[in-house]
Amino acid sequence: MTAFEVDPMAGPLRGDVSVPGDKSISHRALMFGALASGESRVRGLGSGADNARTRAAMAALGVTIRDSDGGLVISGVGVDGLREPSAVIDCGNSGTSIRLLCGLLSGQPFSTTLTGDESLVKRPMRRVIDPLGIMGAVIDGQAGAVAGQLYPPLVVHGRRAAPLRGIDFALPIASAQVKSALILASLYADEATRLVEPGPSRDHTERMLAHMGAPIRVEPGGVVRIEPAGWDRVLAPADVDVPGDPSSAAFIVAAAVVAGGDPVTIRGVCTNPTRSGFLDVLARMGAAVHRDEHDGGAEPTADLSVRGAAAALSGAVVSGEDTVRAIDEIPILAVVAARSTGVTEFRDAAELRVKESDRIATTVAMLRAFGVNVEERPDGFSVEGTDAPLRAARIDAAGDHRIAMSAAVAALAADGPVGIDDTDNVATSFPSFVSLMKTLGVSIRQV
Ligand code: S3P
Repeated sequence: MTAFEVDPMAGPLRGDVSVPGDKSISHRALMFGALASGESRVRGLGSGADNARTRAAMAALGVTIRDSDGGLVISGVGVDGLREPSAVIDCGNSGTSIRLLCGLLSGQPFSTTLTGDESLVKRPMRRVIDPLGIMGAVIDGQAGAVAGQLYPPLVVHGRRAAPLRGIDFALPIASAQVKSALILASLYADEATRLVEPGPSRDHTERMLAHMGAPIRVEPGGVVRIEPAGWDRVLAPADVDVPGDPSSAAFIVAAAVVAGGDPVTIRGVCTNPTRSGFLDVLARMGAAVHRDEHDGGAEPTADLSVRGAAAALSGAVVSGEDTVRAIDEIPILAVVAARSTGVTEFRDAAELRVKESDRIATTVAMLRAFGVNVEERPDGFSVEGTDAPLRAARIDAAGDHRIAMSAAVAALAADGPVGIDDTDNVATSFPSFVSLMKTLGVSIRQV
């Protein structure tokens, strides 16, 4: 098992970098490209293990995907062209792979078994199994920690004859994984589907599928409609330039905000409004992160830069839609909060309890190990900021990539070297994290 060793940062970071392609968009490019009629081209696919799991899953379902000119070519088999896999599909650490595949595979004329690593097999799956069940899908799972909940391995029983039914469904949680699973299943239904979300979860599925000619429409009030009746069941091939992952860029931006940027620039980061909660909260806290927006493209993109000494920041309240739009960035925002004046409140964040780790518990434990005062609540926590150096400590990343990278950023403000254990899973989303931090002048080693 790997660990990080990080030394405190005496001066600002400096460099001009780019981060791996967005993980969420990459999963979708692989799955939807597989369903297209013809060859899709994808440049800048995310380099992490999670995206590799989706690529392998689509290959196991009979789709040819080859590397070409620094990108990928996906030979789409058409909406009805997937083949029965010969073995169990292992989704590794990737919640997005397993949940989106549940939706996609519910509509196939064959059954598939999906499993994952020791973290994924502890993540709740009824959030997709139940609404897909209303559509007529049958998915079996395992009993586990919470009575009545279902966990992987999952058997997704295919539809041998009848198509799935449409559904009119209000999602109880703002979840792009649940929404996307239902959208994919609805392509295999013979009736219209209407979904209503309680908050603005990421909309990459809607954008990409609409662009490829799927019968999908987004309406005000968080409504998504899919009307497959009369559709010719053809998805046009996609030509996707995957922008940089804002959830990975967040660690670099936060490092430059905490230690200073002389300057630090990150090129081509996705700034889709459903993903930019982190930047919006940072702006409210007083951090000057400059966005140089690019024109065109299916997803809004910008170069981000941080210039000058460590920012004087003030605490904030992060709740409601901000929490949804920054859901994967709460641990790193908590580190920024620890370097701010006053208290920062994280609310409406109960979803964090069912991420790659219980991220309320693991974020709170990480900050406490650094000597920060934190109060934990069922659906969030509050952080008391300090301008005194953080206490150098040994941190347990609990196998969670985002906790490991958040701790590495906090270590820049510590009073001595910090060791971070159980960091292997940084490779699921950001395998170049250590080398990139080094190019910015950070003293970090993987051991
Ligand atoms: C994702 C959706 C989010 C997010 C995850 C990626 C996606 O999960 O946390 O990292 O690509 O759809 P939820 O849908 O569970 O909120």
